[in-house]
Amino acid sequence: MSAESAAPAEIVIRQPDDWHVHLRDGAWLGDLAGHTARQFARAIVMPNLAPPVTTSAMAADYRQRIRAALPAGSTFEPLMTAYLTDHSDPADLAAGHGDGVLVAAKLYPAHATTNSAHGVSDAGLIDPVLETMARIGMPLLVHGEVTDSAIDIFDREAVFIERVMAPLLARHPGLKVVFEHITTREAALFVADAGPNVAATITPHHLQINRNAMFAGGIRPHAYCLPVAKREVHRLALRAAATGGSGKFFLGTDTAPHAVEAKEAACGCAGIFNAPHALECYAEVFDEEGALAHFEGFASLNGPAFYGLPVNPGRVRLVRGGERVAERVAAGGRAIVPYRAGEVLGWRFAGQLD
Ligand code: NCD
Ligand code: ZN
Repeated sequence: MSAESAAPAEIVIRQPDDWHVHLRDGAWLGDLAGHTARQFARAIVMPNLAPPVTTSAMAADYRQRIRAALPAGSTFEPLMTAYLTDHSDPADLAAGHGDGVLVAAKLYPAHATTNSAHGVSDAGLIDPVLETMARIGMPLLVHGEVTDSAIDIFDREAVFIERVMAPLLARHPGLKVVFEHITTREAALFVADAGPNVAATITPHHLQINRNAMFAGGIRPHAYCLPVAKREVHRLALRAAATGGSGKFFLGTDTAPHAVEAKEAACGCAGIFNAPHALECYAEVFDEEGALAHFEGFASLNGPAFYGLPVNPGRVRLVRGGERVAERVAAGGRAIVPYRAGEVLGWRFAGQLD
């Protein structure tokens, strides 16, 4: 990469992948997938549709809908996941994994987040599924928050580690686990100390905002996502984890679009739509931390290594000096307020190199 000088004018890295996206379905699927496909070669696609993608057959159908909705000529590869429920069938998941339809399976604790009502009510109930996944090397992707309403929302990730994650890994020591979109110092330390079978994704917004962003001069629904942004000490710990050169942390945007009226409401939806400029935001973080030498690992190498996939052959370029982010982005007839709306970014995505 061209990062020899303290303040390089451009960055060239292997084309990155996004290891956590919500592409939704229906009329806005094509536009949403197009934003992700502009920057990323592959993406792990979350299964929390309504109804959720719970079987290999549903995942194959959804993958077909994504491919059909992509811009003509796109080589973007959606990597599919199954949504685990109390009744998931290990044989179906194993067959889907063997066929190449299912790359991973997702554990949503029931009622933890958007469209998670069908999630797992007690992780112990899916031990047979986890045993099968460990045996075949299929990664488990975890939304790591307890759903106990007696636990303060800002503590739900840290409590999840004690109550669910650590016991689950003790029962399944060989299982590959991605602790998704980590938001706390506790999670970063847990992953760093765990075995090589445990990794984490980190979003651009959790690297850039803390919980104050939700209350800056008034209530800011577009800064609200789950897991919710935490105190500054946690943001700093996430930045250290992402930029420190460890192979256990990799890029996963958790881009989660909701129409503007669903966000700006008395009970607004959780989710931040960062797909249009995700890579530029990550570049800002690595640049600010003086860690551009580790940017390619986080964005393009660590994820494939963990998932056992080849790195992408192509390269992408970013140049210093960014553009102003649009106030609204149109997708399938809906309007979405993107992450960093109206702000000028420090970097500009200059596309793929030939
Ligand atoms: C996601 C969504 O909208 O699907 N929302 C979010 O705030 N991240 C669900 C999720 O990943 O928790
Ligand atoms: Zn998500």
